[in-house]
Amino acid sequence: MQIKGSVALVTGANRGLGKAFVQALLAAGAAKVYAAARDPATIEAQPNVIPIRLDVTRPEDIAAAVAKAPDLTLLINNAGVSGMEGQQRGISLETLRHEFEINAVAPLATSQAFAPILAANGGGAIVNMHSVLSWINLPDTVTYSASKAAAWSLTNGLRLHLAAQGTLVVGVHVAFVDTDMTRRIEGVPKASPHDVVQRVLEGVINDQPEVLADDTSHQLKQNLSNGVYLRPIS
Ligand SMILES: NC(=O)c1ccc[n+]([C@@H]2O[C@H](COP(=O)([O-])OP(=O)(O)OC[C@H]3O[C@@H](n4cnc5c(N)ncnc54)[C@H](OP(=O)(O)O)[C@@H]3O)[C@@H](O)[C@H]2O)c1
Repeated sequence: MQIKGSVALVTGANRGLGKAFVQALLAAGAAKVYAAARDPATIEAQPNVIPIRLDVTRPEDIAAAVAKAPDLTLLINNAGVSGMEGQQRGISLETLRHEFEINAVAPLATSQAFAPILAANGGGAIVNMHSVLSWINLPDTVTYSASKAAAWSLTNGLRLHLAAQGTLVVGVHVAFVDTDMTRRIEGVPKASPHDVVQRVLEGVINDQPEVLADDTSHQLKQNLSNGVYLRPIS
């Protein structure tokens, strides 16, 4: 699918990877970007960017976004949360429910809501942000990893479900990226948001169902058949 001339919506577009997606889409020639955020006042004003209020856990916000974006061709489910620091104190069911709601349920809810529009506009594409933690778990990421594993599985099902209407469904795996989400994690390499979103958009242009956006995601995927998820990762 071409980015040039596309009409995209990015969730969590106010910072981190979402903000980088907005910039990369404009640079690649997107005709319009709906920049969705819980607080649209946090979206930087610029030409061809339309701020939209969207808390991805609120069905009424999703319905309003659908009504505002009948021309959509590319949905980027980027919004996500991580309660990683909390896991050091123990595994929290409250955190698990919160992460599942935003990281797994919400991308499916927005995809379902926008699917008829994408179909009407020629098929289009959906991008879902997963993680290398969709494949492995760590002592401090137990619930986040589970939510991203669920998101990965839902993406794989959605891809099959929407194939008949010609919608490309892209799952993205990546390790640490330099955003607020990893601010407190020190001493590890972090990919730049710019590089990650470039790889994702290249994947969309090449109709790839899966994007591995850094070296770590390539290495971990290769090691899945060796049971890498059964061993502690140092
Ligand atoms: N950073 C990494 O290392 C990394 C690695 C792999 C995958 N990812 C995934 O990539 C995506 C983007 O991550 P990031 O690093 O850019 O995270 P981030 O810097 O923490 O930003 C998270 C974004 O999600 C939004 N958000 C949170 N809850 C929301 C809700 N209920 N409704 C709408 N928006 C909501 C935030 O909006 P507010 O400003 O309103 O809070 C913010 O825009 C996430 O899905 C994350 O899991 C990140």
